[in-house]
Amino acid sequence: MNTFKSLLIAIPISLLFGFCTSSGRIIQSKSNATKALKDYYKDYFPIGVAVTPRMLHGEDSALIVTQFNSLTAENAMKMGPIHPRESDYYWKDADSIAAFAKKHSMRLRGHNLCWHAQAPSWMFKNEKGDTVSKEVLLQRLKDHITTVVKRYKDYIYGWDVVNEAIDDRDSVFYRYSAWYKICGEEFIAKAFEYAHAADPKAVLFYNDYNTENPKKREKIYQMVKKLKEAGIPIHGVGLQGHWSINNPSKEELEKSIQMFSSLGLQVQVTELDVSVYAGRQGGQLIQGQRRDTATGFTAAMEEPQREKYKMIFGILRQNKNKITGVTFWNLSDRYTWLDGRGRKNYPLLFDVNRKSKKVYWDVVNF
Ligand code: G3I
Repeated sequence: MNTFKSLLIAIPISLLFGFCTSSGRIIQSKSNATKALKDYYKDYFPIGVAVTPRMLHGEDSALIVTQFNSLTAENAMKMGPIHPRESDYYWKDADSIAAFAKKHSMRLRGHNLCWHAQAPSWMFKNEKGDTVSKEVLLQRLKDHITTVVKRYKDYIYGWDVVNEAIDDRDSVFYRYSAWYKICGEEFIAKAFEYAHAADPKAVLFYNDYNTENPKKREKIYQMVKKLKEAGIPIHGVGLQGHWSINNPSKEELEKSIQMFSSLGLQVQVTELDVSVYAGRQGGQLIQGQRRDTATGFTAAMEEPQREKYKMIFGILRQNKNKITGVTFWNLSDRYTWLDGRGRKNYPLLFDVNRKSKKVYWDVVNF
């Protein structure tokens, strides 16, 4: 059938369902154009995004408010940024994100209360510069958590209480962080108890990455099971979701959701991005590889990324009764934390101009 005839047929159809391109491909209809991520997923789970204070103005803020109904502070609520000196808290950035969430009736996830990274150096040292005792460190942790959680108890529904305490090496259980070296594993349970005492209604998560790696997942499972059995107030596990075009497999993702929910814990994907480079943790640059910030977003990147996002959201929708939130880590390909790993990445649903990529429509057309 020639193009003219096919258009004669396609045009009325497109008026019903959407715009018809010259090749006859129907793209999203005008009426649906007003629908956004959070609307498509309103019967499944909240859809969040990690933000910085400067994103709360201008074009970023418009995309945030339109597409999402949950926020996480990318850095502003971490120990170092919010508590730079023992006697000083820096509230301005965190407060601006909390106020934005409240103003736009968005949920707000707290991230995070205890982590080996971005912890302020004073936390582990006394005035003489010597390493503090376990008792001193636990008191400092308690003071920090109590102060921060109480400040945001009317804004934040849940916290990443402890982040990344499990080691990536198969032969090592707990990460040899300063927290672990000084306190042993006890700091983990204590952090949850301090957070619960400060806000008994807050949903408390353990958060980690590479949670689809069977050996690491098993260690996390054993730890959270032990915490639950000891009566520690832990309510959920955060699968960070720093995935890539070849990770995770459908089976491993399903297994992670099933294992943690079987403990009666909520499961959330807390830091979702799908790197266009193969490998764990976003395919970070292998030592010595050429730094490359020039490569654009190619078709060779796009197709496997679309397939991976389709698989991920298919599994998440199937498990909507176990999944209580999905949060993207960063807003658009304009900026991603992965860019800091030596090469430009394109891991999100919106492109460098904040426009919906084809993968956006893959995620919402179900
Ligand atoms: O704010 C300072 C600025 O004053 C200074 O001039 C600049 C240069 O040194 O650094 C700025 O701090 C940076 C901060 O991001 C804010 O931009 C830190 O150096 C930098 O290390 C920090 O990176 C963050 C990283 O966590 C820290 O490990 C990334 O933005 C953030 O996306 C990333 O997020 C983590 C999650 O919290 C936990 N899961 C993994 C995820 C990715 O690493």
